[in-house]
Amino acid sequence: MTGRTPLIAGNWKMFGLKADLAELDALAAALAAHPPGAVEIVACPPATLISEAARRARGFAVGAQDCHAETEGAHTGDLSARMLAEAGASYVIAGHSERRRDHGETDFMIAAKARAAAAAGLVPIICVGETLAEREAGRASEVVADQLAGAVPAEGGADLVIAYEPVWAIGTGLTPSAQEIADMHGDMRRRLAARLGPRGAGARLLYGGSVKPANAEEILAVADVDGALVGGASLKAHDFLAIIAAHPAAGA
Ligand code: PGA
Repeated sequence: MTGRTPLIAGNWKMFGLKADLAELDALAAALAAHPPGAVEIVACPPATLISEAARRARGFAVGAQDCHAETEGAHTGDLSARMLAEAGASYVIAGHSERRRDHGETDFMIAAKARAAAAAGLVPIICVGETLAEREAGRASEVVADQLAGAVPAEGGADLVIAYEPVWAIGTGLTPSAQEIADMHGDMRRRLAARLGPRGAGARLLYGGSVKPANAEEILAVADVDGALVGGASLKAHDFLAIIAAHPAAGA
């Protein structure tokens, strides 16, 4: 064991109405019947469902999918980390590639969000990952290194979670090989430790991008993979539970 608590997080993205909270009830019931050992679980529904999800959360924590960098202000439509914490979130995803793409989020903005999250008592899950063109050009490691340097704040909460999500693997059914994931996670760990010391060495590094019940066992067993950020397969409790059960520490 590494001393790092494994974490499996589900990112519902812009899916989910009140009726879908039944999936979280099913998740809670299954986790009560079969506790997942040392594995920590987080569900990140859309912000409209956070309060209700938190009220039902048993055996898992609730996270948000984004936050604003400021605590309050004239920012129509945005939500601060403090608001999300009050609604019942304890985690927040920062800098998902879909936010980088849809909202022009930069590493600088993402670092500010991560600092705001930590200040509000939320654990940020900071996302990095290269595009297919960048991987094909042999630049994946360099791109991720730049994102880590820009998006991971030097200061902040002790609990640091980073998700490596190759953009080309998200929602496509494609994944890097176990060796490619091991290489990238090893690289990330070395860079974070060199820059941030024990806080970097102890960061939990999640893999995300087309994690499914069928490939979870192989991916979660990779060295330096401390868990997963799961999109599509987190929407149904049955699939999400199968991924959780595939972690080597589940049931331990
Ligand atoms: P996916 O999404 O599992 O549906 O590929 C992962 C993510 O975007 O976090």
